[in-house]
Amino acid sequence: MQEANRLKRLPLYLFTILDELKKRARERGVDVIDLGMGSPDQPAPKHVIEKLCEAAHVTENHRYSRADGDVERRLREAIANWYFKRFGVQLDPGTEVLPLIGSKEGIAHLSLAFLNNDDIALVPNPAYPVHFNGVIMAGGILYNIPIVQEKGFLPDLESVPKEVVKMAKLMFLSYPHNPTGAVCDMRFFEHVVKWAEGKNIIVAHDLTYSDIVYDGYKAPSLLQVKGARNFSIEFHTLSKSYNMAGWRIGFVVGNADILKTLSKTKSYVDFGIFRAVQEAAIAALEGPQECVADMVKLYKERRDVLVDGLNAIGWKTEKPKATFYVWTRIPHKYSALAALEFATLMVDEIGVAVAPGTGFGEYGEGYVRFALVEPVERIKTALQKIKTLLEVKS
Ligand SMILES: Cc1ncc(COP(=O)(O)O)c(C=O)c1O
Repeated sequence: MQEANRLKRLPLYLFTILDELKKRARERGVDVIDLGMGSPDQPAPKHVIEKLCEAAHVTENHRYSRADGDVERRLREAIANWYFKRFGVQLDPGTEVLPLIGSKEGIAHLSLAFLNNDDIALVPNPAYPVHFNGVIMAGGILYNIPIVQEKGFLPDLESVPKEVVKMAKLMFLSYPHNPTGAVCDMRFFEHVVKWAEGKNIIVAHDLTYSDIVYDGYKAPSLLQVKGARNFSIEFHTLSKSYNMAGWRIGFVVGNADILKTLSKTKSYVDFGIFRAVQEAAIAALEGPQECVADMVKLYKERRDVLVDGLNAIGWKTEKPKATFYVWTRIPHKYSALAALEFATLMVDEIGVAVAPGTGFGEYGEGYVRFALVEPVERIKTALQKIKTLLEVKS
């Protein structure tokens, strides 16, 4: 059977290659320290798990979810309240909030909902892969805006040629940023809104990491900027803030017309979110938030141990102000290797898995990403192993 051309156009999914390498190493008896995938290692908060168990016993919750159902309405209200508390942004729960089966699902469907074959989507590169893969799968035209360390990994919107802007229908942004850990301030968002005004481009901001911030940094919402709501939406998820990655629940808020079209698209594809998971999500958003602070503390400790440790063994690396990722250039000694080659070497030689920068697009070449999803002791062990790699090989 021949797969569809749209699938052939997708870049190689490097995580699949990495999985294969990890599997091979484990078969050789290696205890792989996996800092590759951004999958949180901690459990969801206890009160959220308890709510899920309780709600799973309610027969009504086993039916298909319906947009006009009771839990569905309460979840949209809980999201709107959370947004107001968190960002001071007021949302109409009926029209400006749309729960998702994880934000990845919504991001992919957004491209499907809006892109025709001759529409361009502007995507900063490197990026979380679904930002560009969703565009390719939908049959749209991808225009990468390179983002570089020297400019704080922020896109230079003025660099996009006029003809490209004219054909653009969609733009993705995401700060705090995966994979680079870069952050932005309100001034950047104000600039984005000013740039996008009157251009008829949907600006989709992915705010997945708003809660995972350090050193006093506070992540703003694009919707805090006056006028943003005329053409912007913002994605969010419970995967990271509440360690609910496998539960598949996220949401998107903002422009009501955009959400209506996205919701229409989804209605042909899915049946919504398991109601017990929706009840649990309400508990997460409305319940005590100390669990979030505790999680950030844990990631901060891991970040400090890893980055201080890397610098101590001569691998110059900066501390990110947000996310649970550490994005760093391949050490000088191995700089002749491509990111995938270096990541392969790390798994093969020392059993430490990291994500090759090119897994996030061509402008990730020369970098690797560490995900802080292993305990401090394991990170320390990884550092010892990395030290041998930096010393022994030439
Ligand atoms: C930037 C970004 N957006 C979206 C997602 C997907 O989140 P979800 O689990 O809600 O689909 C991730 C997951 O790593 C991410 O890093």
